Amino acid sequence: MHQGMSEKYNFVNIAPEMSVEMFESHWKLYEGYCLRLNDTLKQLSNPYDSNLMESASPASGKLRELESDKAYLTNAVLLHELFFENVILPDNSAPMIPGPQFTSMVQRDFPHVKSNDFWSNIIKPVAKAARGWCIVGFSTLNARLDVCMLDSHGGVMPIGLYPLLVLDVYEHAYAPQYGIDRGTYLDHMRRSLNWAVVEHRVATIHSASELMRLSVPEEAEEYIKRSLDDDDKDFGFPDEDWFPDQGEPQSEGLDSRNELSTQPNPRAHSSVQGAVIEAVTEADLDAAFQRIKHFSAISFRSEDDLFDEEVSGRGSRFREELWALLQEETG
Ligand SMILES: [Fe+2]
Repeated sequence: MHQGMSEKYNFVNIAPEMSVEMFESHWKLYEGYCLRLNDTLKQLSNPYDSNLMESASPASGKLRELESDKAYLTNAVLLHELFFENVILPDNSAPMIPGPQFTSMVQRDFPHVKSNDFWSNIIKPVAKAARGWCIVGFSTLNARLDVCMLDSHGGVMPIGLYPLLVLDVYEHAYAPQYGIDRGTYLDHMRRSLNWAVVEHRVATIHSASELMRLSVPEEAEEYIKRSLDDDDKDFGFPDEDWFPDQGEPQSEGLDSRNELSTQPNPRAHSSVQGAVIEAVTEADLDAAFQRIKHFSAISFRSEDDLFDEEVSGRGSRFREELWALLQEETG
């Protein structure tokens, strides 16, 4: 269940031009979304509800209706929380300016616009074009800043966008005070933005991005091994001793990572003292290559990204070098 905000925000700390009463009313709308979301989650909570399961159909039905409501209401709740957070200034604060990390992303990913013009030439026009939300976010898949619009809580948005700055441009957000003058609402909202909150979100996504895209596979492998040794944590990546006790995995399991991890590692096996050393075969080489590809998948990198510039796009050379290493190891 979604807990909602534990404490009501202090809407006194919004820009003085904006109506506190309008935000108080907006808060009530958010509370309604929380109640409806929790009711929807409750109705979906029983996986043995036969009536619900039997209604599953892409055309219509109760399950489809509830799942659709879940996505809509989850976005409604979370986007409002993000919006309230980034539209309330710190106590006694003057209007703020964007922080250094956010500004550096603007300069890197929008080189055709001055960072001082980013609001008026990028954000504000998109916010005026949207029917529900304007979201300045970090694309976790493209690793760049993006500005997107969302026409409703259930609208279409690029996948993988991590929200950094969220602007509510539904009519309910401004019409009580501004009528149809959305431009003035946005101008006033600009003076109310808490860029410290945005900067914190940038720092968070930078950390996640480092783990997801920038760490080299060897470091990721070492990190997992070290974590398993130190803390005995299960990362969903069992070592080769795990399966004999637990039984072999199904041949067509949902988690292909587990199946890959049970494939023999020719380098590990060939280095075991006293083991019967057999000649390295093409199959061994393929298994090693697949294992490296497997680690590249864990760290969310494509096969092309796996290699540095020197070996990128030169798979045959890489295989030759791997072959030489294997032969050296087996004598
Ligand atoms: Fe809203």
